[in-house]
Amino acid sequence: MASKHSLVLLVIISSFLNGSLAGNLNQDFDITWGDGRGKILNNGERLTLSLDKASGSGFQSKNEYLFGKIDMQLKLVPGNSAGTVTAYYLSSQGPTHDEIDFEFLGNLSGDPYTLHTNVFSQGKGNREQQFHLWFDPTADFHTYSILWNPQQIIFSVDETPIRVFKNAEDIGVSYPKNQPMKIYSSLWNADDWATRGGVVKTDWSHAPFTASYRNFNAQACVWTSGKSSCSNDSRNSQTTSNAWLNEELDSTRQQRLKWAQENYMIYNYCSDAKRFPQGFPPECSLNSSV
Ligand SMILES: *[C@@H]1O[C@H](CO)[C@@H](O)[C@H](O)[C@H]1NC(C)=O
Ligand SMILES: *[C@@H]1O[C@H](CO)[C@@H](O)[C@H](O)[C@H]1NC(C)=O
Repeated sequence: MASKHSLVLLVIISSFLNGSLAGNLNQDFDITWGDGRGKILNNGERLTLSLDKASGSGFQSKNEYLFGKIDMQLKLVPGNSAGTVTAYYLSSQGPTHDEIDFEFLGNLSGDPYTLHTNVFSQGKGNREQQFHLWFDPTADFHTYSILWNPQQIIFSVDETPIRVFKNAEDIGVSYPKNQPMKIYSSLWNADDWATRGGVVKTDWSHAPFTASYRNFNAQACVWTSGKSSCSNDSRNSQTTSNAWLNEELDSTRQQRLKWAQENYMIYNYCSDAKRFPQGFPPECSLNSSV
């Protein structure tokens, strides 16, 4: 009897903890465009973006971050999503902005989504890597994560790393580390290029198209009035809660990265010799081979 009670109590406590960790999307995000097509639902438990022939929609974070480990669960537009793009990314402002991108390119029913990734530093991008996924990203929620610390950027899907962009400043490649970024997401129509180079058009008879978000979790340095919440005062330094600031891939996760890249990478700028006849960008020597 006693053990049954404590089990019930444990379940109650753990579901409470999960609930509170997941946070309230109202506290972290604003819907910024789409004239009612973006919605925060269930007291901040879920967010949806939708797209119809007249408009897409989007949201952005209230906070700016300078480094972080940021997770979001997404469930993408189901069925015939060809021509739609769901972009989820971090970006700073201005012509020399930094940016860390996930973009999900829809497809015809039964054909795989393409997960497009890119990293901009000081306004320079052209660092695309693309993947197919090992699951149907429209059937359920999956976790898409960005770990951004001074040493590297790690893109992960359900905790499997798919891409690492290392800090290569010592060989002359700028690295995002001085410009705070907000989190943005939008669902929009890109049927002029997204699906097979624009050959497959969006089928508006399936509109509205909807993507959903939940369980946002950020362990991050929030940037306010020129100051980082991770600054070095004696109270905050050395705390284990900021372990992600020095996180690197251990050998198990290195193996997972290799698995994802060998089996699911469909494009890598670092192996596109035609595109770089004068030689690959310098960071490719660090980031290409695993
Ligand atoms: C759509 O499906 C085709 C056929 O499997 C695939 O080649 C392509 O990469 C997929 N993604 C997009 C965005 O077209
Ligand atoms: C903490 O202080 C050290 C030494 O002053 C500095 O090198 C480091 O970049 C600082 N770290 C952060 C997160 O501000």
